[in-house]
Amino acid sequence: MYQNVKRVLISKEQIAKRNKELGAQISEDYKDKELLMVCILKGSSVFFADLIREITIPVKLDFMSISSYGNGAKSSGEVKVIKDLDSRVEGKHVIIVEDIVDSGYTLSYLTKMLKARNPASLKVCSLLDKPSRREVEFKADYVGFEIENEFVIGYGLDYAQIYRNLPEVCILDPKVYS
Ligand code: IMP
Ligand code: MG
Repeated sequence: MYQNVKRVLISKEQIAKRNKELGAQISEDYKDKELLMVCILKGSSVFFADLIREITIPVKLDFMSISSYGNGAKSSGEVKVIKDLDSRVEGKHVIIVEDIVDSGYTLSYLTKMLKARNPASLKVCSLLDKPSRREVEFKADYVGFEIENEFVIGYGLDYAQIYRNLPEVCILDPKVYS
């Protein structure tokens, strides 16, 4: 299981501590509001499950499954919706929960798409942020950890659909893809 892990980048303890901080911040920011948290499948599923349990105000949940068009090497910036939200977001305070902001294409597309549905407000909470990789301007409202330009796996993040169940955020050994 761990054979292609170069090293652990963010430990379970660091993740748990940051989730508590983010949960407290979100609970404070939305204390008088009705909040809908949106999990972007599959990458943010593990983070989402932990984060919502650090939130101390009533919150509704919804799930969206997406995939990026393109051959993987270069994202076209278009996002295909595989499963849309069950709920209407019009008039609601929405937080999109993602695993990572990389080029920025996915979240800029997604936020544009959801803004067009007229939510009362729309914010983004991302576990990870790789600002050095940005190709389109995008800034998440809540960020767990800023990381360097390295391919990470675990805690929901995959390489070729595996490693999502690793409990820490780990750096994938570059020999796997080079
Ligand atoms: P963006 O559209 O380039 O910002 O890419 C966002 C998506 O690319 C994320 O939701 C991930 O699925 C994937 N991604 C980007 N960097 C990594 C990484 O280091 N590990 C795993 N997935 C990644
Ligand atoms: Mg993803």
